[in-house]
Amino acid sequence: MSPTVCVLGAGGFIGSHLLSRLLGEPTYRVRAVDITSDKIRDLLSHPRLTFATLDIHDTKSLRPHIEASDVVVSLVALCNPSLYNTVPLDVIDANYDQPRHVVRMCAEMGKWLVHFSTSEVYGRTVAGFVSDTRAARDKKHYVLTEEGSPLVLGPVSAQRWSYAAAKQLLERLIFAHGFEHGLQYTIVRPFNFIGPRMDYIPGIDGTGVPRVLACFMEALLRGKPLQLVDGGGSRRCFTYIDDAVDAVMAILGKPAKAKGEIFNIGHPGNEVSMSELADAMVRLYRTLRPEFADTEFEIESVDAEAFYGAGYEDSDRRMPDISKAEDLLGWRPTTSLETALRQTMQSYIEEYGADCARREAC
Ligand code: UGA
Repeated sequence: MSPTVCVLGAGGFIGSHLLSRLLGEPTYRVRAVDITSDKIRDLLSHPRLTFATLDIHDTKSLRPHIEASDVVVSLVALCNPSLYNTVPLDVIDANYDQPRHVVRMCAEMGKWLVHFSTSEVYGRTVAGFVSDTRAARDKKHYVLTEEGSPLVLGPVSAQRWSYAAAKQLLERLIFAHGFEHGLQYTIVRPFNFIGPRMDYIPGIDGTGVPRVLACFMEALLRGKPLQLVDGGGSRRCFTYIDDAVDAVMAILGKPAKAKGEIFNIGHPGNEVSMSELADAMVRLYRTLRPEFADTEFEIESVDAEAFYGAGYEDSDRRMPDISKAEDLLGWRPTTSLETALRQTMQSYIEEYGADCARREAC
């Protein structure tokens, strides 16, 4: 019989890609749950899909969907750094209070929970604190391993860490349910997934500050300066969404290997500083839109507090050790940064290029 996968947050960026992959395989039936469905509009009539418009805080309505499934993939989150220090109560509610009911229901009903956490649980690297430069360059001080690395968050007053703390507590709750009640779980820690349909362009289909890739795309599309927070020295490993979905499919296909594990899912070979990212995106933009081949794009540094508000701090570096996913799941990311950026930027140009040109002033 085909396994039934319940995808919570199926209408979001990751969910939309996962859904189309699951439905592309003949083996899966899907119960998809979200409050929006714009990104999965084309899939809604699929015969192996049941879609429910509901919020996960409505546990009464959610229960039958979990009951009818073999595995629950939970993607629901508020994961935009500009919110962590501005609406921290909403962030803690969405990333801990609400999903904890999902954990409890999975434990009660004996369902396998594949929970999406975040690479941000690692917080900052030890390398960022050591003054000796040789020690800072030692891999054990910055390469992040699921079982070995400490989770280093800043002070309570630095509300940037409200999200990481909520996500970390949820991981601990899942682990404790596994320990005390035999909950079957897998935890995924994503490292900066990028691809078509991620985030939004402010003033077109969202408000506020999106994540860095969308910020830089907005600047390029509107001819505004690309802004580097505190000089753009922070480093990230960007992971293409197709590689990320491969990892989820490997988890779902190998339950005996995946249950009871936490996996870093990211591309260690795709590390860049934000300043290098800005340069790469300007270069690629000129090749994707030859009409701008000779245009100068300004890149400027901005103060973090001026950009995000008080209480913002940053993860200095996020480099995953993915040997566990390689060994147990046989998964390895294959998409280079260049290809990942090119595909993502092309999709932004197609989706927003004309609109931004029409509304240059907005
Ligand atoms: C966010 C979330 O907090 C993580 O949970 C999530 O895993 C991650 O995104 C992700 O996409 O996977 P972060 O990487 O800090 O974490 O989010 P971004 O907003 O994309 O910021 C990346 C870096 O770019 C930060 O150093 C930020 O200060 C910088 N930035 C952002 C700029 O320099 N300019 C901008 O216009 C925007």
